[in-house]
Amino acid sequence: MNEVSPQLVGYRLNIGSVQHGWYNIDNRHVPGLDCLWDLESIPWPLEDSSAIIAQMGHVVSRINPARWGMFILMDELWRILKPGAEALWQSWVDANVDFYSKGTIDYAKSWAELMEAELAAGKGLHEAAKDMRSKANPEGITGYMFGMACQMLIQAWAHGDQLEKWRDENLNY
Ligand SMILES: C[S@@+](CC[C@H](N)C(=O)[O-])C[C@H]1O[C@@H](n2cnc3c(N)ncnc32)[C@H](O)[C@@H]1O
Repeated sequence: MNEVSPQLVGYRLNIGSVQHGWYNIDNRHVPGLDCLWDLESIPWPLEDSSAIIAQMGHVVSRINPARWGMFILMDELWRILKPGAEALWQSWVDANVDFYSKGTIDYAKSWAELMEAELAAGKGLHEAAKDMRSKANPEGITGYMFGMACQMLIQAWAHGDQLEKWRDENLNY
């Protein structure tokens, strides 16, 4: 149970108990748990820069403050979280409100959501990217906008690394 699955690229980490759709870590066996682990045992069995977001509700008070418990735990979180993916995405959304830019961001969001649904249904990223590319285009975007949308997802999306491979193999950029 403590092995890190290679599929867990860009997972959402829930620390303490279980939340559906997240990768759940706890030192108590709860149904649906993914990783049985004592948070005070460092390092956690999770790869560097692997989680896109982490939440930890009502857990801090359970961590022993002796031996710098919380500081060590925050260091561990820092190690595991992908650098700034959520913040990076939000900064694009906030800074690009004109019609052209917003259209690009809306397209990227819609395409990512459609691809995520395909991935959840068992499709590979390359196939999902190809199949959903035109479905995510209700308003119509230019080739340049599509290139920008691709680049945003490559930088900020959990499956960005695979999307970059797809783009490099399939588009002439
Ligand atoms: C009060 S519950 C909070 C559950 C949930 N996050 C919430 O907000 O409802 C605290 C959880 O943290 C887990 N926990 C406490 N100390 C822990 C430790 N050292 N390592 C791993 N999990 C721990 C407990 O087993 C428990 O599931």
